[in-house]
Amino acid sequence: MPVSPFLHPHFMGRSAVCVLNLFGAQRRALSEMTQCAHTVALNRQYSAMASDRLVAYHPPEWAKALSCVPELAMPNTPIYPWLVPGVPDGFSVSIKRDDMTGSTLSGNKVRKLEFLMADALKQGCRHDAEGAGCEGNVLMDRLCGSHIYLVPKQSPYLTHLKPRMEKLAQEIKASTGEDSYLVPVGGSTRVGLFGYITVFEEMQQQGVLESFDDVVFACGSGGTASGLSIGNYLTGSKLKVHAVAVSDDAEYFHNHCNETLQEAGLGHLRSEDILHVVEGHKGKGYGISTDDELDFIYQVACNTGVMLDPTYSGKGALGMVRELRKNPATFSGKCILFLHTGGVYGLFDGRMTPLLQQKQQSQPTIRMWPDVNGGPL
Ligand SMILES: Cc1ncc(COP(=O)(O)O)c(C=O)c1O
Repeated sequence: MPVSPFLHPHFMGRSAVCVLNLFGAQRRALSEMTQCAHTVALNRQYSAMASDRLVAYHPPEWAKALSCVPELAMPNTPIYPWLVPGVPDGFSVSIKRDDMTGSTLSGNKVRKLEFLMADALKQGCRHDAEGAGCEGNVLMDRLCGSHIYLVPKQSPYLTHLKPRMEKLAQEIKASTGEDSYLVPVGGSTRVGLFGYITVFEEMQQQGVLESFDDVVFACGSGGTASGLSIGNYLTGSKLKVHAVAVSDDAEYFHNHCNETLQEAGLGHLRSEDILHVVEGHKGKGYGISTDDELDFIYQVACNTGVMLDPTYSGKGALGMVRELRKNPATFSGKCILFLHTGGVYGLFDGRMTPLLQQKQQSQPTIRMWPDVNGGPL
C-alpha cells in the first residue's frame, strides 16, 4: 500500500476514537467555533465566552413542529451545472458544492457538527469523543491536539466503538471531573439531523425545489438522508431524494431514518415513503475502491475540476451516473442535483497513486525540464 505524506502508516486500515479537549487546545479562534466543528478547539481564555457566542438558530416555519430544535446557522454553498462524464443524453446534472462548507475544505460533517458542538457547549461538556474511520481527517485531528485511540478497522459502532467511547468518557470524568460529549459515527443524531434540515432550507431559498426533479448524494450513516428527506416531506416539495448507499444497505438506512422520524416526532411517517435508498454501488465495500471508481474520480477531476473522494462522493456520483444509464425510470425527472458532501482528504491516503503512475507511464504529464534554454518537450 503506498504511503501518503499526509497520513502516518500507523493509521492505515484502522478506525479511531478521537477525543478533543474542547477548551484546552490553543490557537483556534473562537469565531471558527461557530463555523466549524470536527477539529474545533477553543483557547481556554475564551471558554467563558463560548456559550455567549453561540448564535441562535431559527428553524424554518415548516420545521418548527419538530421536537428538540437546537441552535446555530449555516452558510450557503454554490450550485451550478456539472458536465459529469457518462450522463446519458436528455438528463442535466448540477452540483451543490457542500464540500465547500468552510473550516478547511470541509463537507457534510461541519453541517452536523455545528449543531452537535453547540449542543456540547450548551451542556457544559469540555471534551468531545467521536468514532471515525482513519482517513486524511486524522492529520487535522492531530494538528488540533486530539487524542487518538486506534481500534481494528470495521469495528461495529454499537458493540465496539460506543462502549469504548463511554469508557473513555468515564475515565475523563474520573480523572478531571469534566463531562464529554459523545458523537456517534457520522454525527447522525437527532441534533446532527438539523445540519441537513438547514441545508434543505438553504436549497429551498436557492430555488432548487423549482429547478430540479431529483437530489442525489452518498449515504454513509444516514444523517444527510434523514435531514434531506424530512425537509423534503415537510415542505411538500416534489423532489425525489436518492441516497446512494456506500456502506450498509437499504434496510439499515431505512431503520436509521425511521428511528430519527420517531425521535423528531414524526413517527407516523415511514422512511420507505420519503427516501429512495439506492443499492448496488458500494463496490468492494465501505472505504475500499475499485479501479473503475478511481478512474471515474480522475475523469471527473480532469473534465470538470471537481474533486470527488473515494469513500463517499466518488461512489455516490458514479452510482448516480450508472443509475441514470441503467434505471432512468427511478428518477422523477430529467433535472438532477448532485450534492457533493466533501471528504477530499480521502484522496490523499495514497490510493490514487497507482492510477496516476499508470497514467504517467502511458501519457506522461510530469516531465523534467532542467535547462531554462531548452524546450519543454
Ligand atoms: C464526505 C462524506 N460524505 C458523505 C458522508 C455520508 O453522510 P451520512 O453519514 O450523513 O450518511 C460522510 C460521512 O459519513 C462523509 O464524510
